[in-house]
Amino acid sequence: MAPRSVRQSDPKSLGEGIGRSCPESNGKAAIEQLKLRLKEDRVTRLALMILDKYEDVHLKDQVVDSMDDARHFRLCGKTVINFGSDSLLGFDRDPRIQKAIVESLEDWGTHNGASRAFTSVALCEEAERRLAQWLNVDETLIFPSVTLANAGLLPALAGKGDLLVVDRLSHDTLWQAAKVAAHNGANVRELNPATPNALVKILEREDYEGCIVAVDGVYSMTGTIPPLDALDQVTRSFGGILYIDDAHGTAVIGPRGRGAAAWKLDSLENVLMVGSLSKAFSCLGAFVTCDQPLKRMLKIRSSTFIFGGPVPPPYLAAICAVCDLIESPEYDEILGRLQNRVKRLVDGIRRIGLPMTGGLAAVVAITIGDIEKTLSAGKWLFDRGFYVQSATYPAVPLMGGILRIQVNANHSIEAIDCLLDALDDLKTEFELPGN
Ligand SMILES: Cc1ncc(COP(=O)(O)O)c(C=O)c1O
Repeated sequence: MAPRSVRQSDPKSLGEGIGRSCPESNGKAAIEQLKLRLKEDRVTRLALMILDKYEDVHLKDQVVDSMDDARHFRLCGKTVINFGSDSLLGFDRDPRIQKAIVESLEDWGTHNGASRAFTSVALCEEAERRLAQWLNVDETLIFPSVTLANAGLLPALAGKGDLLVVDRLSHDTLWQAAKVAAHNGANVRELNPATPNALVKILEREDYEGCIVAVDGVYSMTGTIPPLDALDQVTRSFGGILYIDDAHGTAVIGPRGRGAAAWKLDSLENVLMVGSLSKAFSCLGAFVTCDQPLKRMLKIRSSTFIFGGPVPPPYLAAICAVCDLIESPEYDEILGRLQNRVKRLVDGIRRIGLPMTGGLAAVVAITIGDIEKTLSAGKWLFDRGFYVQSATYPAVPLMGGILRIQVNANHSIEAIDCLLDALDDLKTEFELPGN
C-alpha cells in the first residue's frame, strides 16, 4: 500500500517520474508531508514546544562568535566564561597540538580520501600504537567518533544467538547501536538499575552464545560512575564481556588518565573500552581497546569502519602529540590543575548546599528539576557571565532538569570562585532546596 502523501498524487505521473526528476509539485508536497509527519512524533513535539515557549532562556543551538585561551566565548552578544566545553584539559588551545595539526596538514593534506578498509595512513597505525602503549593494552582501533565506534562495534560483537545487555542510563549512542544489533538478531535486554543484582537476574534468565554488557564509564549528564568492578565480576562469571563507553573518563580519571575502567578494574585486559579522542584529547575520534586478532575481526565486522571515512591525518598527528604530553611529567601538572579546579567547585557547591552529582571526572551536575526552572536558572547564570548547559528532557528524565558544569584545566581559579558566588545567589533567587 502506498503512503498517504503518494496516494494523493496521480499514480501514472509518479510511475513516469521514476528514473527522471519527480514533478516539482509532487516533490514539494512530499517534503511538506514529511515535515508534518516528523512533527507528529511525541518527543519532537515536546522539543519544539520547549524551543518555542522558552525561546528567551533555553540557550540551545546557539552560534559562538569568538573564543580565547581562558575559556571565554562570545554568544548572544555577550562574552561569558564557558563551563560547557568537553576540551577538559585545554588541549584545544595548546600551541603544540595546534602545531602538530598544521605540520601534518602540509605533509598529508586535509584527508586521505579512502575508507580504511582500503588504506590507512601510517600516522593512523602510529596513533593506535601510541594509544595502546599509554593504556597498557595490546592494541587499539581508531574510529572517527564514539558514535561511530559504538554504531560499528556493538552490532559487530553481538548478533544472532547473542545477548546484549545495555544499561538504561547509558549514552544514547549505545542504545542506537543496540537497535541495529537487535535488528541483526541479538537479544537486547535493558539493565535497570545498573547493579550487580539486576545484572545477575538478566544473565540467569537468558540463553546465549556470546554476551556483551554495555555501560558508560562516566554518565555524561550526571557525572557519576556505575559500579564497574561489580558489573565486570558478574559479567565475567557468566562468561560475558563488559563493554565500557568511557568518553568522559578518557585522559581525566584513573591511573595516568586511563579512564574509569582502568581506575575501577585491575586491568583493561578482559574488557572492551571505548575512549574519546574528541573530548579531553581535543582532537577527533575514538578508539576501542583490543588485541591483534580481535582488531583484525573488528576491522572486518564493523560496518562504520568499512563503509565510513577515517580520522583525517592532521588530527591523527594531534592524537600523537597528546600522547607525547600524557607521557611527559607535564601531564601530572595539567591533570593536577583540572583535579584542583573540580575539587574547588565540588567543595564550594557542597558548602553552598546545592543538590549535586558527579565531580569524580570533570562533569558536575546541579539538580534543578522542572524544565522552566532549569532553563531560567541557566539563563540567569548566563546573564551573570557564566555559560553552563541547562539539560532538560529528553537528555534527562522529565522532571530531572540539571545545570551541567564542565570544569576545564584552563579555567582560572578566579573563574571557579566567581561561578560559586553566582551559584550561591542562584540558590536564593530560585529558592533551590539544600543537598
Ligand atoms: C558517553 C558518550 N558516548 C558517546 C558520545 C558521542 O561522542 P562523539 O561525539 O565522539 O560521537 C558522547 C558525547 O558526548 C558521550 O558522552
